[in-house]
Amino acid sequence: MKIAVLTSGGDSPGMNAAIRAVVRECIYNGADVYGVKFGYQGLIDNNIYKMNVYSVADIIQRGGTMLRTSRCQEMYEISGVEKAAQTLKKNGIENLIVIGGDGSYKGARSLAQFGINVITIPGTIDNDVACTDFTIGFDTAVNTAIEAISRIRDTSLSHNRASVVEVMGRNCGNLAIYAGLAGGAEAIIVPEKEYDVEKICEKMIKGKDRGKLHSIIVYAEGAGDINEFAKKVEELTNLTVNVTDLGYIQRGGSPTAFDRILAARMGSMAVQLLLKGEKFKAICYRSGEYVAMDLDEALSMESSFDEESYNVAMHLSI
Ligand code: F6P
Repeated sequence: MKIAVLTSGGDSPGMNAAIRAVVRECIYNGADVYGVKFGYQGLIDNNIYKMNVYSVADIIQRGGTMLRTSRCQEMYEISGVEKAAQTLKKNGIENLIVIGGDGSYKGARSLAQFGINVITIPGTIDNDVACTDFTIGFDTAVNTAIEAISRIRDTSLSHNRASVVEVMGRNCGNLAIYAGLAGGAEAIIVPEKEYDVEKICEKMIKGKDRGKLHSIIVYAEGAGDINEFAKKVEELTNLTVNVTDLGYIQRGGSPTAFDRILAARMGSMAVQLLLKGEKFKAICYRSGEYVAMDLDEALSMESSFDEESYNVAMHLSI
């Protein structure tokens, strides 16, 4: 059997560990394994190479993706999808494992229409793939964000300032919620929830009157203009407000043990499913178990906002 693997969309810590798991599980079972460079773009450009046991040596601890990645516009056109499928067929490869977010899943679904057996693995720091409780890279990104927040807190506290920290997550506030909850933020601003800046400021003033020396607000990138928000907070509280955008700092770095284990289990499971003749599946981690869901079903699910964690964070930030 020939199995190809690619990473697509934004890179996330643990993608390398997932590639390693796919490659080693293939070799363990006597299957041929191929790496596709630069995601779907590599399929369109026939940028494919045969991998061996050494191809993935010393990558388990590395962030980013050794196969590289891209956001491939051609995959939104049927002609691009056909070209990508033909490349695989020309190379005699009928099986493809895609590591990425929901956009990458849609590319996989399109390829399946051209007879490619696809399996998807969730890899994104956003944790916005609805079918799984956790995506590979999210845990690392949360840990990176809280480390940064702790550092910002030191300075914030020393100067009696308020800090607004922007974290990634295009349309999804999960990274902000987890970073805010673990980082002890006074407020968490997410795209899924309306917020009342006046109420937030009232709380900050109350805290200040009680002797609180600083405030941290975690702000998800998709929630609107952070500078406007910070300006308003400054006006209403009379505090100096500092804005920090964590940007790519939170997308790189060595994956946590949790992300490596998720990657190992999912990569291995993807290969085992293909070897058993299964296809069109999304690998998910749900309530502590690894499960394979029909890809259409996975894609039909709405990304869920972690309301409970958000509420707890709000209760604790009085
Ligand atoms: O999908 C992951 C993500 O990091 C989002 O959080 C962010 O909005 C987006 O990618 C940014 O993508 P890029 O900088 O690669 O265009």
